[in-house]
Amino acid sequence: MTLPAADDRNADEIAYWNGPGGQRWLNRQQALDALLAPIAEVLFDRAAPRVGEFVLDVGCGCGATSISLARRVAPGGRVLGIDVSSPMLERARQLAPKGLPVDFALADATVYPFEPGRANLLCSRFGVMFFAAPMQSFANMRCGLRGGARLAFACWRELRENPWLLLPLQEAYRHVPRLPEVGPEDPGPFSFAAERRVCGILGRAGFRAIELEPIILSLDLANGRGLDAAVDAALNIGPVSRALDGQPPEQRAAAAESIRAALAQCQLGDTVPLPAAFWIVTATNP
Ligand SMILES: C[S@@+](CC[C@H](N)C(=O)[O-])C[C@H]1O[C@@H](n2cnc3c(N)ncnc32)[C@H](O)[C@@H]1O
Repeated sequence: MTLPAADDRNADEIAYWNGPGGQRWLNRQQALDALLAPIAEVLFDRAAPRVGEFVLDVGCGCGATSISLARRVAPGGRVLGIDVSSPMLERARQLAPKGLPVDFALADATVYPFEPGRANLLCSRFGVMFFAAPMQSFANMRCGLRGGARLAFACWRELRENPWLLLPLQEAYRHVPRLPEVGPEDPGPFSFAAERRVCGILGRAGFRAIELEPIILSLDLANGRGLDAAVDAALNIGPVSRALDGQPPEQRAAAAESIRAALAQCQLGDTVPLPAAFWIVTATNP
C-alpha cells in the first residue's frame, strides 16, 4: 500500500491496517463501535469539543469518533479524520451523514502536511500508539495546532490491567502458541502504557501541561447479546485474533471452548462485563 504521505518506518503498521488488521475491524465495525462507545464518552468529556472548533481526529479508523466530534462542533466547526487505512477510511466516508462537517485524509500523521496553526483540538481514541518514531509524529501533529490548542487521547494501559483482553488470551494460549514477545516501546496497542514514556514523548514534541488520568471501565464483550456474542468478540479482536490466525481448526475450536467456559463465569444476564484500563492523556500546545 503506498500512501500520498508516509514515513517508511511505519511501513509494517501501514501494511497491517490496510491488510488483516483493517479487515478484522471492518468485519466487526458496528460491534466495536458499540463496545468502545463508553470510552469515547469519557474522552469527549475531557476533550470538551466546542461549537465552531476545528478538530483533528488522528487514527480515526472507520470514523465513529470523527462523526461524533463533527456533531459536537457543528455549526461552524469542522473535523478532519486522518488514517493510514484505505478500507477503514472508505467505511468512514460511507458512514458519515451527508452535510456533516467532516473530512477524511488518507495519510500517515507522522508526515501529513497539516494546515499550520489551525486546529483547536487534537483528539484520538486508540489511534496514536502505532508510530515507529512517536516524538516526531507528535511534533508534526503539533504543527497543525494553534497556540493554546488542546490534545486529548485515549490509550491502553498494560495488558495485565485489561482482563477483557487478557482473560481470553490466557485461555487461547492453552491451545495455540504464544505470540512473539513485543517490546514495551514497540508500536502496538500497549506502547503508551507507561506514564513516563508518554510524558517524555509529548514533552519532547513540545506539549505542556501533560496529564494522564487512569480510568477503569467495565466493557460488555457481549454488547448485551449473550455469551455466544461475547465469545465471538473475544475470538476476533485484540491479541487473541492474532494468536489464532492460521491455526488448525481443532485448536481454534478448543480455544473457543476454553474462552466460552471462562467468559461464562463473568456472565450477567445477556452481558459479559470485564474491566478495561486506559489512560486519558491531556496536554496543551503552548
Ligand atoms: C485501534 S484502531 C482505532 C480506530 C479508531 N480511532 C476507533 O477508535 O475506532 C487504530 C487506528 O490507527 C490508525 N493508524 C495507525 N498508524 C497510523 C499513522 N501513522 N497515521 C494515522 N493513522 C494511523 C490505524 O489505521 C487504525 O485505524
